[in-house]
Amino acid sequence: MAHPHIPGYEFGSPALAQSPVSLEEFELLKKTVLFTDEDAAALRRSREILAPQVEQVLDVWYGFVGSNPHLVSAFCDPATGQPDMGYLEAVRKRFGQWILDTASAEYGQAWLDYQHEIGLRHHRLKKNRTDGGRGSDHVAFRYLIALLYPVTATLKPFLASGGASAEEVERMHQAWIKSVLLQVILWSHPYVRDGDF
Ligand code: HEM
Repeated sequence: MAHPHIPGYEFGSPALAQSPVSLEEFELLKKTVLFTDEDAAALRRSREILAPQVEQVLDVWYGFVGSNPHLVSAFCDPATGQPDMGYLEAVRKRFGQWILDTASAEYGQAWLDYQHEIGLRHHRLKKNRTDGGRGSDHVAFRYLIALLYPVTATLKPFLASGGASAEEVERMHQAWIKSVLLQVILWSHPYVRDGDF
């Protein structure tokens, strides 16, 4: 599943490094967060609700990051403190695609490998590299985990706007929380001391 129309979105690219996490290990991780086939199905149902709202979701998420100096610094030139608008825009396109891919819930080696790449892109190992961005050189681990809450909490009204029952909205929301949790765990790999992941 390559996305050649979005610069830097290298999902499925053979050039990516293989994830250090195996598919078997990922299955155990899914089991540990109680992620089931029901959750995958709920994510897929959320896709058609979210697809027409991607830009509005991104407005909310970017609004949150943008209004918090300790977060937006990731996109600001440390020398001038000014936001790199080109960088913000380039990342926003991939973020939009990420919403759709998260909702597609198609897990395999290519997906696992791209998760590893996303982790590297938040870490100083690869941050700023993809877009030539002028931002801080590293996203702190604590914020990577912390952002799970606002990202998933603010998604709920969008899930609810499609006319689904309260129970169905809750099912999709729980599936989203579990999926983003799984992803931030995978993205954490470069932050964890060798041998400790
Ligand atoms: C639940 C937590 C988070 C999610 C779901 C998330 C999601 C994403 C996604 C989907 C991308 C694009 C990946 C790609 O290149 O395809 C990205 C990149 C980026 N995110 Fe996050 N992110 C999270 C936490 C954070 C935090 C806390 C910050 C710091 C403010 C941050 C700053 C950035 C930056 C600067 C990039 C671009 C990295 C680069 O230079 O390539 N993210 N994020």
